[in-house]
Amino acid sequence: MLEISQLTKRFGTKTAVDAANIFVDQPTMIGIIGRSGAGKSTLLRMLNRLSDASDGSVMFEGEDITTLKGAARRDWQSRCAMIFQQFNLVPRLDVVSNVLHGTLNKRSTLATLFNLYPQADIHKAIEILDRLGIAEQAPKRAEALSGGQQQRVAIARALMQDPKIILADEPIASLDPMNAQVVMQALRKIHEEDGRMVIANLHTLDTARRYCDRVIGMRDGRIVFDGTPEQLTTGVARDIYGAGADFSEAATSTEIETLDRQAVPA
Ligand SMILES: Nc1ncnc2c1ncn2[C@@H]1O[C@H](COP(=O)(O)OP(=O)(O)OP(=O)(O)O)[C@@H](O)[C@H]1O
Ligand SMILES: [Mg+2]
Repeated sequence: MLEISQLTKRFGTKTAVDAANIFVDQPTMIGIIGRSGAGKSTLLRMLNRLSDASDGSVMFEGEDITTLKGAARRDWQSRCAMIFQQFNLVPRLDVVSNVLHGTLNKRSTLATLFNLYPQADIHKAIEILDRLGIAEQAPKRAEALSGGQQQRVAIARALMQDPKIILADEPIASLDPMNAQVVMQALRKIHEEDGRMVIANLHTLDTARRYCDRVIGMRDGRIVFDGTPEQLTTGVARDIYGAGADFSEAATSTEIETLDRQAVPA
């Protein structure tokens, strides 16, 4: 369903993503790992067309994504929703309105101007928030929520678009271990229950191992590993992160492991 072929991004003389090939034949939860500067964000940005590829193609269900323009490109961006490390919510706006922003593409300018949302959309937004365990936060300002709650609002906003793919660029990098776990569980649940594809850039190896079906390792713009968590041995990790890297015992992953053994409400 998703075929990424020879996808390349150059910034001047720097090749940020170098001829990446990724084939996905069913909705999968994929984790992308690699050192800072490996090209992870650039890859995701090309997938949802925030950034244009220098070379190569992205096919989704038979359609070439890299050449979409105007309304077709915006339509793709709602089918392939993206969430970010810093949540990108409107801080002073209430939670429901932030979630409803996920429908902006589909609404008239006039309705947007007067902040008019169809009743059905408001119900849908509350339902999604409820599913993510934060319905009671709906009337609050986004800025009044914890980081983990804010990231779940961002996920809810993405779900409003009913996307086929959810791209997440370091979704838990700003969160404490407890909130990180809740957010990763939410993404996993959306993947399993709705059959949506999730592709997440993750900064710890253990998070990728724990939550993903498939892990892709990048180094210097190239894909150097693509396999299951079981295939991701210490030797492979060393190849991805470099020989001197301390990837085995990241504090956060150890803490997450501890939390996993306790019952945490979803
Ligand atoms: N807009 C840009 N202009 C020039 N160079 C860029 C630009 N965006 C990214 N790069 C370069 O491309 C390379 C890959 O960057 P990218 O942000 O994709 O890495 P990353 O794997 O996401 O890193 P991090 O883990 O720090 O987020 C880096 O060398 C970066 O400096
Ligand atoms: Mg990045």
